[in-house]
Amino acid sequence: MTRADPSRRLVLASGLALAACRSEAQPAPWTGPVPALKDIAPFPVGACVPSAYLDDPSWVELARRQLDQITPEWELKMEYVLQSNRGDYRFDAPDRIADFARDNGLRLHGHALIWYAQEAPYFMTLDPKRFAGEYDRYIREVAGRYAGRMVGWDVVNEAVAEDGNGLRDCLWSERLGGQEAYIVRAFEQAKAADPNAVLFLNDYNLENNPTKGTTYLRLVERLLTLGAPLGGLGVQSHLDIEIPDGQIRNFIREAARFGLPIHISELDASQRRDGRLPDTRSLKHKRARQHALTRELVTAYMELPAAQQYGITTWALRDRDSWLRRPPRDDGRDSLVLFDDWGQPTAMFAGFVEGLNGAA
Ligand code: G3I
Repeated sequence: MTRADPSRRLVLASGLALAACRSEAQPAPWTGPVPALKDIAPFPVGACVPSAYLDDPSWVELARRQLDQITPEWELKMEYVLQSNRGDYRFDAPDRIADFARDNGLRLHGHALIWYAQEAPYFMTLDPKRFAGEYDRYIREVAGRYAGRMVGWDVVNEAVAEDGNGLRDCLWSERLGGQEAYIVRAFEQAKAADPNAVLFLNDYNLENNPTKGTTYLRLVERLLTLGAPLGGLGVQSHLDIEIPDGQIRNFIREAARFGLPIHISELDASQRRDGRLPDTRSLKHKRARQHALTRELVTAYMELPAAQQYGITTWALRDRDSWLRRPPRDDGRDSLVLFDDWGQPTAMFAGFVEGLNGAA
């Protein structure tokens, strides 16, 4: 097959994309009164939030109506708290989010104490004698600061390898005696700092990639065997809307076998497909997949005993608040959470409500 020259390929691709957009007028995913999810769900409904959004009246109004839980999106992570090279911490932004939660009767979920992706420069400066002590101090002081106010913590984030084969190596595993060692240590320090918080192991692609899901569940089992005070399973659920039906349900049923609380901690379902070829899927198809997979997830979640329903948190309240709508990923069109750019219900919202009503 002769390969079209690049400029022709580009014209072809943009033509396809334009044609796809032009014929995309779709009925609104939701018509009629909009229920408050926090009132109709038997479990907490949450969203992540950066402190800047607390200055957006429309975000605050929608959050107050729809949510009973919030998660700081990034300002309670090491990248924000431990910016200095002197080992001192800053809490202005997370304190503001915690105060907003208190003042509005919202549960507060902490994210994230230890993450392979956040190896603060300060830790790079430490000799072996001080490293472990400073690791422990960070966890104890950050978790301790919100003791009694945090319903739960993502203690360790994304410990499983990207492809699901084994666990990640990282600064923490290299400097603290191995992968299991740094993880158990983090949970022990967090438990000492806040004995009443539910302590989660949080990860992603667990339903998108069954191999990764299996490795994650094996790690849960291993940590419990080692006596780590692991109290909950954090399932991020950044859904790939093209995965086969049933994968989400199967994973949640497998995860439920530990009898621990499960937090769907970062739900979103991007309509975008990265890659070189143009995405010619129709908007109707993408919305149908978002609707179906959200309904599958919520239906499976509703089957859990109440004690295991920690909550479902979306990784943004409105489409335009999403990490995937920020540069460099932003295409300005992705719709991936419960409310669109104007705060109106999306296909995910419709699937969520159907899942609550058992209309699977
Ligand atoms: O707001 C500041 C801006 O003032 C500053 O000019 C700019 C450049 O420094 O940074 C902006 O803050 C950024 C923030 O997102 C808000 O956009 C931070 O640098 C950036 O690191 C932060 O990225 C967050 C990322 O985790 C890393 O912490 C994303 O918001 C957040 O959505 C993303 O969330 C992760 C979860 O923690 C774990 N699971 C995957 C998920 C998506 O990657």
